[in-house]
Amino acid sequence: MFSIGSPAKVESNLALKNIPSDMENVLYLASFAANSHNAQSWKLRISHSNKTIELHLDEKRLLDVVDPENRELYISLGCYIESLQTSFQAYGYEMITQDIAPNKENHYQVAIISYKKKENSKPNQETIDIIQQRHTDKRKYLSQQIDSKTITNFTKRYKDMSYYQAGSSEYNLLKDKSIEAMTEQTSNIEFLKEQDHWLRFSNKEVEEKKDGISGDMLGLNPILKSLYYLTTNHQNSTSQTFAKQSIDTLKNQVENSSGFFVITGNQTISDWIRVGRETQRFWYDCVKEKIAVQPISSIIEVPSIKEEVQNRLNLNKDIQMIFRVGYVKEYGENISPRRNLEEYISVSD
Ligand SMILES: Cc1cc2nc3c(=O)[nH]c(=O)nc-3n(C[C@H](O)[C@H](O)[C@H](O)COP(=O)(O)O)c2cc1C
Repeated sequence: MFSIGSPAKVESNLALKNIPSDMENVLYLASFAANSHNAQSWKLRISHSNKTIELHLDEKRLLDVVDPENRELYISLGCYIESLQTSFQAYGYEMITQDIAPNKENHYQVAIISYKKKENSKPNQETIDIIQQRHTDKRKYLSQQIDSKTITNFTKRYKDMSYYQAGSSEYNLLKDKSIEAMTEQTSNIEFLKEQDHWLRFSNKEVEEKKDGISGDMLGLNPILKSLYYLTTNHQNSTSQTFAKQSIDTLKNQVENSSGFFVITGNQTISDWIRVGRETQRFWYDCVKEKIAVQPISSIIEVPSIKEEVQNRLNLNKDIQMIFRVGYVKEYGENISPRRNLEEYISVSD
């Protein structure tokens, strides 16, 4: 029973042909970007002689049901670009990004990135720690309010960001509509099947696949994690019993947060990538302030509910990200699995 509840031991292989080891570390660290379903839908092609990286969306790792326009995946690629930039900085590299308009012909390339090692640079452990501490926290948060200066700073620093404090009518709207949206989603078997594809139900499955949502990421204690793994599997995770459990979990989460931050933006690929970059930066700032974060996307994934919420909140752009936030006793660190580098990175020369 206890071994089932013990943390998964994921060993990601960082080896890449013709790439120096500090650069392998940069690429591994970069993969700790926030990304929808932990699908890690990125693909890279590196020319180390030219010091360039082509970044693509991986067409084989899409979320057709919840994300038919790949909005969440382009946001995730934006998170990846920001994570890569921060990881390069941490290892003493400069990085320049040139955006590319993705399409079928260019295999959904979103950017060409150039990098260069600065002379006499040393790894910056403080930045490495921040990248490794950023994680999605699905637990209940404390009832303490977020420091008002922090809220003012964040809403000034980030474009199109609003904050709704727990207890306000806007907060209650986001809370109730998140639950309503998830109730609608879980009544659709295609939604449940897609979700099942990314859920992991044993340490063995996590260690083999190195992606998706593991039991460790649910924030359960070892006994509850054992129970989760003993009672849930790929046969019953599309049942209505499991759906009801997911709704109850969401209720618990949104009833135990200090507020929601919301980012809005235009419905264009370049703005989705911009939102992703802001998401990742905002999250690092939250790590520095020890604020726990969990994106809650159900409203955004159900178009009719999203429209209604935008109108009722008087937002003049589309909602792109909703984050529940709050303080926790022990902040924790990133424990979600990441794939071997060679699975998604090819080195041309
Ligand atoms: C666009 C986007 C949407 C997300 N939506 C949700 C969500 O609805 N619920 C949730 O718990 N996490 C959500 N996440 C968080 C991811 O599941 C998480 O980043 C991923 O599993 C990797 O885990 P990590 O953040 O701990 O590294 C979202 C992340 C992104 C970038």
